Parts: sequence; structure tokens; C-alpha cells
Amino acid sequence: MSLMLSFVNESLKMDAVSEIKVNMLSQGSIIADQVENVFEGISNEYTYQYLENLVKRQSLEINSRVLLLNLDGIVVLDTHDELEGKNYTHILEIEDALQGASLSELYKIASSGENVLYTAIPIFDRDGVIGVVFISTSADHIFDKINRTLRSLMILSLIGLIITGVIGFAFADILSSPIENITDYVRDITKGVHDQRIQVVGNDEIANLCNAFNSMAAKLDQVDDQRRMFVSNVSHELRTPMASVKILCESLLASEHWEEGVYREFLGDINDEVNRLNNLIDSLLYLVNLEKKELEINYEVTYVNYLVLNVIKRLKPLASKKHLELKFHAHEKIQMDADREKIQQCLFNIIGNAIKYTPERGMIDVYLSMDKVGNVIIKVQDTGIGIPKDRIEHVFDRFYRVDEARARKTGGNGLGLSIAQQIIHLHQGTISLESEVDQGTTFTIQLPQKMII
Ligand SMILES: Nc1ncnc2c1ncn2[C@@H]1O[C@H](COP(=O)(O)OP(=O)(O)OP(=O)(O)O)[C@@H](O)[C@H]1O
Ligand SMILES: [Mg+2]
Repeated sequence: MSLMLSFVNESLKMDAVSEIKVNMLSQGSIIADQVENVFEGISNEYTYQYLENLVKRQSLEINSRVLLLNLDGIVVLDTHDELEGKNYTHILEIEDALQGASLSELYKIASSGENVLYTAIPIFDRDGVIGVVFISTSADHIFDKINRTLRSLMILSLIGLIITGVIGFAFADILSSPIENITDYVRDITKGVHDQRIQVVGNDEIANLCNAFNSMAAKLDQVDDQRRMFVSNVSHELRTPMASVKILCESLLASEHWEEGVYREFLGDINDEVNRLNNLIDSLLYLVNLEKKELEINYEVTYVNYLVLNVIKRLKPLASKKHLELKFHAHEKIQMDADREKIQQCLFNIIGNAIKYTPERGMIDVYLSMDKVGNVIIKVQDTGIGIPKDRIEHVFDRFYRVDEARARKTGGNGLGLSIAQQIIHLHQGTISLESEVDQGTTFTIQLPQKMII
């Protein structure tokens, strides 16, 4: 700040000095013009009197000392009545004025420290220079004024600085306290505590940040719940067949005299339970793989018709066993970008469900078409047991089965539709269903022809 003030001080002084210089040069010219006609006769008492009155009046007006000098540089009139008769040719400005030039320069008098402006203007008559008007003006009162102004400015700036500092400190506290709250909150979240929410005040950027953190914590809560639920479901699903195997083994071990037929039956049951376990583990691994971040998907341009036909071919024996009519309807060959293995797995799960949940002699129709906006549409329609309206929204949840009791008989894990939905989402598509109890169910898959990668 002091650097800035000294810079301001210097430039103000320079401005003021150049203004006084201009003023003095013009005042000097006015005096020179006024004295010009009578200057030659200054030795005459009346003329001297006349000139003295005139110059003293001017000198009072401009608050300066005025000298008139003749061609030899001798003072012929001094408004302070002290220097008459003295030679002043050694003063640079007077020397130059005698040559016809007008000059004005600022000096600092070494003995008194006073700042004085010397201004010299030649007095001309028709033949040339006849004398000089010399004005000596003190610049100290102006410099004092500037110094006073600067001092006030400095005091005001200091007060301003103090006020700004106090306000800044107060604001810093107001701003930093919510940020400290957020920091504590994020630390809690990092430690695993995400059931609390941060209080949102107002609707500024900080409030937006709080809202964003609250949403993040809510999401973490949800993910944590899902993880807990998944682990508990997996344990439950694994324990059930294990418990059956254990009972069957213990029964066999309890006696040494079982007939061979009983052994065979029990071992057959154990085999079934082990198969169930195998299926469950396979499905679980498949699902977990699909959710991997670094999952490899091999998109290839593929005729969807062949994928559907392939799945139908694999499932035909199962359908025939139940005397189900399984038909494929397609008017055209449709190409799309797809991971063949995954799309087939998805179709296998959905058409497999249609077979599983349709009583004997029912019908299953698979339709392949394009919609108006160029999406591939696959519909799987059955005449099966249907799904109650209030259960429809849950069928894609992991381990969800509409009828738990029946599931044990039919052998479902409740993972097939989760896997199918995950695959469709990986292909940027959607899957939905409509169903009527005892009438049947229709699953509709919508897939973009071209993947946006
Ligand atoms: N076509 C359908 N008709 C009637 N109910 C169905 C149909 N498809 C699915 N569901 C119901 O939705 C539930 C979830 O299906 P999902 O395929 O996920 O599991 P699942 O068939 O029981 O077991 P799996 O993991 O072996 O496929 C099923 O248990 C069944 O109750
Ligand atoms: Mg299924």
C-alpha cells in the first residue's frame, strides 16, 4: 500500500507542478504584455510608480514574487523591494528569456528545503527582447495540500482495510463452517456411516453440494442394503439343498441294513440336490460376471433370427415333453450388434420360463420384428399360469419367485430374469412384461440395432 501511495503522491505532484507551470507562463505573458509599452521608460519615477502598482497587484493575485529585469539581467523592479540593482543573469531561466525563450522550472532550495517554481518570460517590443518578467512561486502550499490529502487517503484506506479484513474474516467463518460440516460428513461416510443426512440450508452452491452428498449417501445405503440382502439370500439358497443332502446322508448312515433300492433312491435325491446347487452356483457366477466393470462383451453383427432359432432348437425337447406348441414368427431376417452367447442366454431364460410356467398342451409364440424407430423387438408369449399384477414389479429382483412352494418343485433359483435383464441393459435395450393370471404372460424385449459404444 505504501508503494501505491508514494506512486500516487509523485504523480499528483507532477500534475500539480505542470499545472502551475502553465498558469505561471500565461500570467507572466500577461504581465509582459501589460508592461511592454512603458518598460523602456522605467527609469522615470512616474513610469516606475505605474509599473510597480501594476506588477504588485498582479503579484498579489498570483501569490508570487515578481521581478522585472532589463536587457543586462539587472533587477529594475522587485515586488518585495529587496533585489533592485542586482544582476541575475546566472539564473538559467532568465538567461534563456533574454534570448527570447519562455521557461518555467521547479527547484528545491537547498538551504530552506522550500520548493520554488522559477518562471521567466521575455518582454518584447517591435525590435526584440527588451527585458524579462521573472516570477518566483512557492509550490510548498500545494505540496502540503497533496500530502494532507494523501494522509487522509491513507487513513481511509487503512480503515477500509480493517473493515474488509473484519468482514472477510466473518465471511470466511460463515463459508467455512458448512464446508467443515461437509468434510466431517464425508469422513463419516468413508468410515461406513451413511445412514445420516447433512442438513441443507438455503439454495446456494453449498446447498447443492449438500444435496449431492445426501443423494450419494442414500445410494450407498441402498447398495449396502442390496449387498446385505444378496449375501443373506445366497446363504439361504445354498443352505437349503445342503440341509437336504445332510439329512439324506445321515439317514443312510444311521443304518447299515438298507436295501439297495433305498440306497439308490436316496443317492438319486442327493444327486438332484447337488445338481440344484451346481445350477445355483453357475447362475450366481454368471450374474456376478455380468456385473463386473471390466466385463468383456463381444458385439458382432448377427442375424437375430438364428439366435432365436438356436435357443428354440435347444428347448424344443423340453417343450415337447409337456406337449407345448413352441412356434417362431418372423417376416424378415433382422441384423443387429449383439454378443451372441449373452443374447442366447437371455432368450434361453425367458423362453425356458415360458415352458416352465405353462401347463401341458399350452402354446408359446416367439415373435421377431422391427418397430417404427428401427429397434429390434422380440416378444415371448405364453398361455401359462401368469403373474399377479402386484408381483410383476419384483420378478426381475434377484432370488425372487412368485410361488416359493412351486419353485422348490420346478427347481427355480429366481436368478433367470435378473440375468436376462442385465444382458438386455448391457445391450442398451429394455425388457418389460404383461401378464394375466391363468391366461398367460408376454415378455417384450426392445434392442437397438446399432450399439452406441
Ligand atoms: N413366463 C412366466 N409365467 C409365469 N411366471 C413367470 C414367468 N416367468 C417368470 N415367472 C415368475 O417369475 C419368477 C422369477 O423368474 P426367474 O426366471 O428369475 O426365476 P426362476 O425361473 O424361478 O429360476 P431360474 O433362476 O432357474 O430361472 C419365477 O419364479 C416365476 O414365479
Ligand atoms: Mg427362470
